Amino acid sequence: MCGIVGYVGSQQAAPLILEGLTRLEHRGYDSVGVAVLGAGGLRVAKQAGRVRDLELPKRFAGRVGIGHTRWATHGPANDTNAHPHVSADGAVAVVHNGIIDNAAALRAELVDAGVELTSDTDTETLAHLVARSEADSLEGKVREALAQVDGTYGVAVMHADFLDRIVVARNGSPLIIGVGEKEMHVASDLAALVRYTTTVAHLDDGEMATLTASGFTTYAVAGGQLGEKSKAVTTLDIDPDSYEAGEHSSYMHKEILEQPAATERVLRGRLDERFATAHLGGLNMDARETRAIRRVKILGCGSAYYVGQMGASMIEELARIPADAEAASEFRYRNPVIEPDTLYVAVSQSGETIDTLLAVQEIKRKGGRVIGLVNVVGSAVARECGSGIYLHAGPEVAVASTKALTNMYVGFALLALHLGRVRDLSISDGRRLIEGLNRLPSQIEEILKHEDALREVAGRLADAESLFFVGRVRGYPVAREGAQKFKEISYRHAEAYQTSELKHGPLALISPDVPTVAIVPDDELTDRNVGALHEIAARGGPLVVVTHPTVDLGELAATRVDVPANEVELDPILLTISLQILAYHAALKLGHDIDKPRNLAKSVTVE
Ligand code: F6R
Repeated sequence: MCGIVGYVGSQQAAPLILEGLTRLEHRGYDSVGVAVLGAGGLRVAKQAGRVRDLELPKRFAGRVGIGHTRWATHGPANDTNAHPHVSADGAVAVVHNGIIDNAAALRAELVDAGVELTSDTDTETLAHLVARSEADSLEGKVREALAQVDGTYGVAVMHADFLDRIVVARNGSPLIIGVGEKEMHVASDLAALVRYTTTVAHLDDGEMATLTASGFTTYAVAGGQLGEKSKAVTTLDIDPDSYEAGEHSSYMHKEILEQPAATERVLRGRLDERFATAHLGGLNMDARETRAIRRVKILGCGSAYYVGQMGASMIEELARIPADAEAASEFRYRNPVIEPDTLYVAVSQSGETIDTLLAVQEIKRKGGRVIGLVNVVGSAVARECGSGIYLHAGPEVAVASTKALTNMYVGFALLALHLGRVRDLSISDGRRLIEGLNRLPSQIEEILKHEDALREVAGRLADAESLFFVGRVRGYPVAREGAQKFKEISYRHAEAYQTSELKHGPLALISPDVPTVAIVPDDELTDRNVGALHEIAARGGPLVVVTHPTVDLGELAATRVDVPANEVELDPILLTISLQILAYHAALKLGHDIDKPRNLAKSVTVE
């Protein structure tokens, strides 16, 4: 899996496809390939390595083409395992994202039937299955092949006998069709399309489409039949330049700096000063339904899950509704009890994370109510939820999420305010929060001004092989997110702990070689926090304390990082932003590729 790009029209396909694949590079990949269909028949070029290193053979001509960047799942990253995969007769080329669960059985059947498999991949089976189908049309062949497949796919197929078309299908892995002027595009991510068109149609699970230069036709693949289906086409209000790094050395840095503007966008039009509440039109819930909520359960993965924990604590504090967050990747597997009076909230930047999507589907299947906090408009999670809060962070390209997480946090604050104000949150507390939310963009600006000081602290942290990030209650998810960001781009071992739990085990690891980054907001726990940090200092552990200017650290031997204070409920996000900058500068000092951390992909569309 990773990136898919396809083109059919009047231009040469290969350069356009390579350009599109370059725009998907940030998602992480290990090999690349392109196939074109033209007068010379079906031609394929593929190899392990970067898009820019792919050498196209002479006369690689064709106005129909598909391309792929691969992130290895079945078999190592090498030239033969790279996509596109081609059938034994050389007629069919396939690119595929997702995982075919019954690949081993399909491979065995094909071998028994005399097919010589050339790669280790699950995808290759699809190429042979399409070629062996006896259906008359390419759509029929692809449908018959997919009927034999268990698993997930976003797939694009070309066939030498059907020179004018690409057939695509989706089940669990995103595909977006881009509508051009007498040409059609397809890609797994908008980033590959926006330079050519912003008029798009999102394919849904269980759908297939045929793309020709003159348009596209969508089919529902239900009960083994192909039924033509109408598909809404939307023109997105997206500035293609927002996908460019511009003068920035990395997307992550650009996105960190964009946070003041991003938070302004998520707040815009949503604060109701008069009633001291938040206007969240996308929730589609009236006051009576909102009051009936007895519990809130937040589901997300990775950093989105950690922000979900921050959100749960805000909802519990402000709305006094029991709330917690759980990793969406685990939720479905414990056969969860779905309660009718629980509000489930799925949180995702991409809206394509398969674990989050499957959790949403499980909740809906059991009759639960689920809303989405999603950044990418029209993404699978957003569509599956049907209602929720869009985050308006703008395109996030770096693998390490920053501005989208900040806007998730603000989204949760708006939700907590809204839920609180239909319950017991007073008008004065509502106003206090609104004022706090309005202060966030300028306070984030203030933190960003101190980047040089943070760079210096990060430089010292980068030298350590292993670090702790600690915090308590509101500060604990901040520590978890801080450790996550640090480890994913610096490749240092960074472990998050509750400060209160250190003495129950991890203190054994504290030494002059193991620094601790401690989150110490000015709140009801400050004294206890500082007390626990003395235990670290007494054992020679270097300390970086991320705190508020009003906190007195006394005699504690520590480097302090001061962050402006807001209302206690909103402080966690400001503390988190300083940790993003620490992680960024540590990774920069270590010379890592900031936007493409090893082994990671931007949106994880396989389980
Ligand atoms: C960390 C990071 C990941 C994502 C996670 C969920 O910086 O980016 O942990 O937060 O993969 O992704 P989304 O939010 O797209 O569902």
